[in-house]
Amino acid sequence: MIIAPSLLAADFTEFGKEAARVEKAGADWLHLDIMDGHFVPNISFGPAVVKAIRPFCKLVFDVHLMCSRPEILLEPFAKAGADRMTIHVELGDPVPSLFWKIRNLGKEVGLSVNPPTAMELVEPYLKDIDSLLIMTVNPGFGGQEFITETLTKIQQAYTWRQERGLKYKIAVDGGIQFQTAAECAHAGADTFISGTGLFGQHSLTAAIKKMRKIVEKAGVPELKLT
Ligand code: DX5
Ligand code: ZN
Repeated sequence: MIIAPSLLAADFTEFGKEAARVEKAGADWLHLDIMDGHFVPNISFGPAVVKAIRPFCKLVFDVHLMCSRPEILLEPFAKAGADRMTIHVELGDPVPSLFWKIRNLGKEVGLSVNPPTAMELVEPYLKDIDSLLIMTVNPGFGGQEFITETLTKIQQAYTWRQERGLKYKIAVDGGIQFQTAAECAHAGADTFISGTGLFGQHSLTAAIKKMRKIVEKAGVPELKLT
C-alpha cells in the first residue's frame, strides 16, 4: 500500500519544508500535480520548482502531468528529479509514444483516467504501465468532493489485474479522506493520493498512520497478502 500526500494542499510558500515534513510523517511517495492551464483550468508549478524541492525529500517523486503536451515536459521533469510520471489517457494517440519516452528516461509509467472517460480506453495499455491512476474527481483543483461512481472503475481495474496476472498499482486521486479511502480500498485500490484529506489534519503523521490503518482494514483480502 502506498500513501502519497499531494503537495497541492501544502503551504505554497514553504514547499521545501513541506516536502521534508511529508517524508518525516511516514508517507511513501510525494505526489506532485502539474497543471498547464489547458488540459485543466488551473496552473500549478513546473520543473524548476520540483528541482528546488528535490533536496528536501528522499521519497519517490510521483509526477502527475495534467498537461496537453507532456512530450515537452518529460525530460525536464526527469532531470528535475521525478521518479515516476503519469500521463492521461484522454490525450489519445500520443499515449504509447509518451510511455516509451518515460521508460527511456528510466522512470516508472503511470496512466490516468478522468471520471467521465470510459475504462475501455485504458484497457489496451494495462500491460505497459506501472500504475493506473483513477481520478476520483475531475482534475484541476484540490479539495473537491469524491465522485462515488468512480468506485466501479476501481473494481474493474482490480478484476482486470487479477484476470490477467498483471502487477500495476491501482491509484486513486481526488477527494480521498479517511472514509473514501476505505471505500476505494474495499473496491481494490492500493495507492492513495490525498491532499486536503491529509494536510487538513492537525498532525500529518497521525493522519497518515490513521489512513494506513483504515485502508488496511478495508482492503480486499488478496491485497493484504501482497
Ligand atoms: C486534482 C489533483 C489531485 C489533488 C487532490 O486535480 O490531481 O492530486 O491534489 O486533492 P484533494 O485530495 O484535496 O482532493
Ligand atoms: Zn494528482
